[in-house]
Amino acid sequence: MIIDLFSDTQTRPTPGMREAMARAEVGDEQSNSDPTTLALCARVAELLGQEAGLFMPSGTMCNLVSILVHTRPGDEIIVDDQSHIYNTEAAGAAAIGGVSVAPLRTPAGIFAPEAFEAAIRAPARTAPRSSLVSVEQTTSFSGGTVWSLDAMRRIRDIAHERGLMAHIDGARLLNAVVATGIPAADYARGFDSVWLDLSKGLGCPVGAVLCGTEGFIAEAWRWKYRLGGAMRQSGVLAAAGLYALDHHVAELARDNAHIRLLHGAIADLPGLIFDPSAGQSNILCFSVRGLGLTASAFAEACLAQGVRVRAIGAHQIRITTHLDVDRAGIDHATTVIRSMVQEIEARASRAGPH
Ligand SMILES: Cc1ncc(COP(=O)(O)O)c(C=O)c1O
Repeated sequence: MIIDLFSDTQTRPTPGMREAMARAEVGDEQSNSDPTTLALCARVAELLGQEAGLFMPSGTMCNLVSILVHTRPGDEIIVDDQSHIYNTEAAGAAAIGGVSVAPLRTPAGIFAPEAFEAAIRAPARTAPRSSLVSVEQTTSFSGGTVWSLDAMRRIRDIAHERGLMAHIDGARLLNAVVATGIPAADYARGFDSVWLDLSKGLGCPVGAVLCGTEGFIAEAWRWKYRLGGAMRQSGVLAAAGLYALDHHVAELARDNAHIRLLHGAIADLPGLIFDPSAGQSNILCFSVRGLGLTASAFAEACLAQGVRVRAIGAHQIRITTHLDVDRAGIDHATTVIRSMVQEIEARASRAGPH
């Protein structure tokens, strides 16, 4: 059996979740009359302290629709350079919204207020209009770093003072909530849009819920419909979301703890380089450059021993814990990584200095 640490999207619906899906009361989502979808949207909106919510097929569509509502063609949005919006959404902002992206180079995905302010364009006939900033809580390709509440609020306040909208990519917002004990609504307060992914740590097969004011959601509906995201009997999917909110939120704390455990067990290995912020939630990134290996060679060697990790750069590895990986899986992954690295090091020292 493979211990799959590639992503928290790899979870399979549990028997309990499948039963809840089978029992779901359904209607027509496109005409806003699927009762289970409406219940899920109301529940997530309340969790995030927002006026309204909208069920979406994916987190990618939540980001895109938020960008489309908040911007006009020719605008510019500000994000971290490792963000999902910048790297892995097929340039939707540019291709569909006509919006350019100003990526900020950051350590571990958290940008400083000064860097953000410096990136905001002074109004000029010749310049793009800075109109939106997005904060990823937690960061994905930067290793699950958790934005502090204070840092998020400073970005939000600067955005509003300078006339920009502020968005939270909350794919893993609940991982931050269980890591810090800060309620999701506190993180989301005052932001112009925020969403949660259901298909990551929460373990659902499909879906995300985008939230904001009634006015924002009305506009988001129009874009969702235009993009082909309106659904019919989506209650079968929304039921999985409701089930996950009842049964899987506590599991996120276990996922975070598994990363701390794994990090603690491999942090001392020679040749692996970790950012000082590593290990804050359910994602762990590290460089294998010091081993003289590419990330894909490292990932292949792990896979040969039953552990799937993800190469996310020439030398960068990402490991993600989730519902379908238990303590025994973490122990096995630790043993595989430790023995592999020790063997590589032993071979290198036998070969002597180059
Ligand atoms: C930070 C972040 N934002 C957005 C997304 C997109 O979510 P989805 O896969 O539901 O489209 C992901 C998915 O990996 C993500 O990690």
